[in-house]
Amino acid sequence: MFKLSDITFSYQDKIGLKNLNIAIKKGETIGIMGPNGCGKSTLFKLLTGLISPQHGTYEFDNKLISSKSLRNPVISNYLHSHIGYVFQNSASQLFNESVTTELAFGPTQMGLSNQEIDIRVQDCLKLLDIEHLANRVPYQLSGGEQKLVAIGSILTMNPPVIIMDEPFNGLSPKYQKLVQQLLLKLKAVNKTVIISSHNYYYINDVIDRCLLFNEQHTLEKDLTPDAIESNADLKNSLEY
Ligand SMILES: Nc1ncnc2c1ncn2[C@@H]1O[C@H](COP(=O)(O)OP(=O)(O)OP(=O)(O)O)[C@@H](O)[C@H]1O
Ligand SMILES: [Mg+2]
Repeated sequence: MFKLSDITFSYQDKIGLKNLNIAIKKGETIGIMGPNGCGKSTLFKLLTGLISPQHGTYEFDNKLISSKSLRNPVISNYLHSHIGYVFQNSASQLFNESVTTELAFGPTQMGLSNQEIDIRVQDCLKLLDIEHLANRVPYQLSGGEQKLVAIGSILTMNPPVIIMDEPFNGLSPKYQKLVQQLLLKLKAVNKTVIISSHNYYYINDVIDRCLLFNEQHTLEKDLTPDAIESNADLKNSLEY
């Protein structure tokens, strides 16, 4: 589903990703881990077409994704309708006047009926246990509340691929557990899920593979949970 071949991306004078080769199959759940600044969020921006590599190729469902190909609305719509992306900074993702309209925004753009939109919004408010936030103004919410609303605004579109950049950040234990359960539910319905986290503990139950990045902005290890479990030093270095 995702195929990255020898990708290099630099911001003006700063390297984001270097010589990166990654393949992800449909239905896989992938953890992305690595030190601050190693390129996790840059990878997500690249997968979602917000940035394009200076070197190497990125294919999504066998379609070449590049700054040029994304000018073709067929390619661009395909990519954007297939991937839901929860930003690391949820505040920059929320722009509607209420939580309900925020959750309704995506399905409205998709042209769904009002009845279907209402069902999806109510289902996602319930799934995320944020019904009490329905009439609040998103930018006035706490960081953790905004994170949950950002996740909800993606789930109401029901995309086949869901990318979440540090979804556990800022969540209290109750909601951390809820998001862990949510990830298991997404896996059970065969979604392709890519999650970054600084704590392996939150993702070890759900991931099929953990891609470990290093300070050189590239993939250092591609590990199964079993391989991590059998290496106590490595596991300790990924948890706190
Ligand atoms: N807009 C930008 N302009 C210039 N450099 C940037 C920009 N965004 C990120 N970088 C740099 O690119 C590198 C990769 O950043 P990125 O945000 O992908 O890291 P990350 O792995 O997500 O880190 P964190 O764990 O802190 O979220 C870092 O060195 C960062 O300083
Ligand atoms: Mg990041």
